[in-house]
Amino acid sequence: MLRLENISYYTIENGEKKYILRDINLSFDYGKFYAITGPNGSGKTTLAKIIMGIIKPSAGRVFLDDIDITEKDVDQRANLGVSYAFQTPVTFKGLKVSDLMNIVCKEKNIAKLCEYLSSVGLCAREYINRKVDKNLSGGELKRIELAMVLAKNGKINIFDEPEAGIDLWSFEKLTQVFSSLSSASNIIISHQKKILEICDKVIILKNGKVDKQGNFCDLKHEVCNDGCAKLRGDDERN
Ligand SMILES: Nc1ncnc2c1ncn2[C@@H]1O[C@H](COP(=O)(O)OP(=O)(O)O)[C@@H](O)[C@H]1O
Ligand SMILES: [Mg+2]
Repeated sequence: MLRLENISYYTIENGEKKYILRDINLSFDYGKFYAITGPNGSGKTTLAKIIMGIIKPSAGRVFLDDIDITEKDVDQRANLGVSYAFQTPVTFKGLKVSDLMNIVCKEKNIAKLCEYLSSVGLCAREYINRKVDKNLSGGELKRIELAMVLAKNGKINIFDEPEAGIDLWSFEKLTQVFSSLSSASNIIISHQKKILEICDKVIILKNGKVDKQGNFCDLKHEVCNDGCAKLRGDDERN
């Protein structure tokens, strides 16, 4: 279980604290899917980066299986089984898709790597030797990241707006990808109703605080009609 205890994060602007996250208390069990939603700028990506260890909280502690990992860096957390698929994927100059996947994949089996690429809708033969650079589109990079999270098979998986990469793919496939991670604790940052409704719990962040949490049905009105946490696609609202 991942547990966030009194997490706050602030920057200093003109000598004053500017809070981005304030007193966040959340826990994430294994075998469950959690959606984090809320307006742009509410602190969702900052929270994801704190969980991954990319940034350190200004206050509060992060526990994984009751062990305090607050001081652990990204590599240490990755080794403990925490994975993060970035909102804006990163490129790796000089590295090929197969190199990256070999780094994260314990099995180091080419057939398995190809299977992961296929499951995110990428033709393995075409992509396995591609360089992970700016010649790949944003959508392709997002899906390669997804494949890497699959290959890593971690305990805690964080996906930051995965829907951005599925333009030429489908939600159905994306939900299939998620279902193959069902023994982990999955945290999906999203505005999409189709993602929110498959999650066991929806957490709404507003102004850096947990505004509400509950199941999708209970929060449906909030996440579908609220001007801030609104979902993309008017025709899908109800
Ligand atoms: N390193 C930083 N320095 C200053 N402000 C930041 C920094 N990182 C994020 N912010 C600000 O914090 C707020 C939350 O950002 P973010 O976590 O990216 O929100 P979300 O993912 O919910 O859209 C935004 O107002 C953003 O501009
Ligand atoms: Mg974000």
